[in-house]
Amino acid sequence: MINTNHTTQISNVLVIGCGGAGLRAAIEIKLAGLQVSVLGKRAKTDSHTVLAAGGINAAFGNVDPEDSWKHHFADTYIEGYGLGDSSQIEMLAKESPSLVREIDLWGANFAKLKNGHLDQRFFGAHSYRRTCYSGDMTGLAILKTLIKKAESLKIPIHDNQYVTELLVRDNICFGAMSFNKNTAERTIHLADAVILCTGGHTKIWKKSSSRKRENTGDGFYLSLKAGSKLRDMEMVQFHPSGMLFPEEVAGTLVTEAVRGEGGKLINNKGERFMIHYDSERMELSTRDRVAVANYTEIAEGRGTPNGGVYLDITHKSKEFIMQKIPSIYRQFLEAQMLDISKEPMEVAPTAHYSMGGIDVNAEDHSTSIQGLYAAGEVVGGLHGANRLGGNSLAEILIFGKKAGMASVHYSMKLKAQIRSDKSIKNAHNNINKFLGNGTELANSLQNQLSILMWEHCGVMKNKELLASGLTKVKEIKDMIKDVDVRIDYHSCDDLVQVFDLESSVISAEATILSALNRQESRGSHQRSDFPKLNNNEKCNYYIKLNKESLELEISRKNISPIREDLQSIISKATKVSDLSDKLLE
Ligand code: FUM
Repeated sequence: MINTNHTTQISNVLVIGCGGAGLRAAIEIKLAGLQVSVLGKRAKTDSHTVLAAGGINAAFGNVDPEDSWKHHFADTYIEGYGLGDSSQIEMLAKESPSLVREIDLWGANFAKLKNGHLDQRFFGAHSYRRTCYSGDMTGLAILKTLIKKAESLKIPIHDNQYVTELLVRDNICFGAMSFNKNTAERTIHLADAVILCTGGHTKIWKKSSSRKRENTGDGFYLSLKAGSKLRDMEMVQFHPSGMLFPEEVAGTLVTEAVRGEGGKLINNKGERFMIHYDSERMELSTRDRVAVANYTEIAEGRGTPNGGVYLDITHKSKEFIMQKIPSIYRQFLEAQMLDISKEPMEVAPTAHYSMGGIDVNAEDHSTSIQGLYAAGEVVGGLHGANRLGGNSLAEILIFGKKAGMASVHYSMKLKAQIRSDKSIKNAHNNINKFLGNGTELANSLQNQLSILMWEHCGVMKNKELLASGLTKVKEIKDMIKDVDVRIDYHSCDDLVQVFDLESSVISAEATILSALNRQESRGSHQRSDFPKLNNNEKCNYYIKLNKESLELEISRKNISPIREDLQSIISKATKVSDLSDKLLE
């Protein structure tokens, strides 16, 4: 018999995702007096936010008094190669000081200067020291603080809920369907508004700083199915430094804070090679440049025996290392028995952050679906073609709060609640269609996908690689219907895996399609067949799902000129790179 059983939960606003953006949104909603419910795919204390290591940006000017929001704006816009949404960037630069101060007061307890002000460290390509931090566990400090605050407000956070579908009627979102990852029990969550805070898709690359079963593109696929658009999906950030071995930890982040605190990148000739790539900023150049530099040194035979480059901090004292980057010290000692105060680390690029994502209205993070909002890594537009380290933790607080506030206003003004039996039935069918015996295993297809994404859509791409990659992704897509999915009393792993796989495959397809279309090299999008920045490509690429054919469709839109006052900030910025000139052309 076909299962259509579910329990029903009702709230004013449903938040999907219990990382930093989701919790910050939920806190705002609860403080406004509305009912909010938060769903998390993993345990709430273990969302991806815990992995954001090195810091959070706010132009306080505590260490470098010359800093201001205008410099933060210019750095972010220019180093995003002019593709970022200038309104989102303006809000980030102006509002991060108050949100960083707030979270510190709530208990994040960031590192302080002797005068009691927040300490600020260098992060790549920032003109000034503006990255506040808690050792090298800043994300963890923020997440713990948000959980404590949410608990004090008695916000219900439901762990282990896997959301399979947004419920939409006539382009209005009225909730979501989820199943419990342990019991497979289904819940229909009815709500006036829904906020997606589900993270990105970088776990679909073989080497990734994300862990198993996170960042599989779930939110991208949910929003496409609901009818909204994705933008800039080709813009995937490869962090220059991931661990190389052992196999189980390959790709794990080695925080930029190591370079921020003086770490040097060295090739097998003993050369500090960043001199050839960005002689002014060296290791503190932008992530895209440092990633390409590391990639090139390795590809051209100047790498380490294990296929990386050296990252050396041995010139600093052990005491300094233990104070500034204690978890990196532990990470290498535990995984490789390597004492980083005595020997250099070996590192290589790793897929780290989805800069593309759901297309939102900058002001309130609403989407093209009424009642559907999004915040955090699932959103596209803030970072353009290259994200500055430390901007993502600021982003989750600022835009989590904004999306929360906007959903409150929307819910309070709503005259009637939309419901639709048909949408609920469809949501059941979309689970039921997977149940049954098959000849393929989701896990094995997911592994194949991650290898092909690494090989065909990695740090350096070209038309041939991308086109053949797209064919292979479509082959895997075809196999999804034959995946073996069984639910027993012990586990719903098969069901989780097949949904992860479907989202991953669609996110992969969207990424490759956009990467094929963008015929230039810009920031993290590097094409060996189009090695230069091309001003004709100063546009955003959008992806949507055609509901009839179920095919992804791509379109492009030129970027409109930015506001005059913001343009003048950029014109005045004295950046080391020649990019500011290029962006003014
Ligand atoms: O390197 C890091 O600590 C990463 C920070 C970020 O991605 O913002």
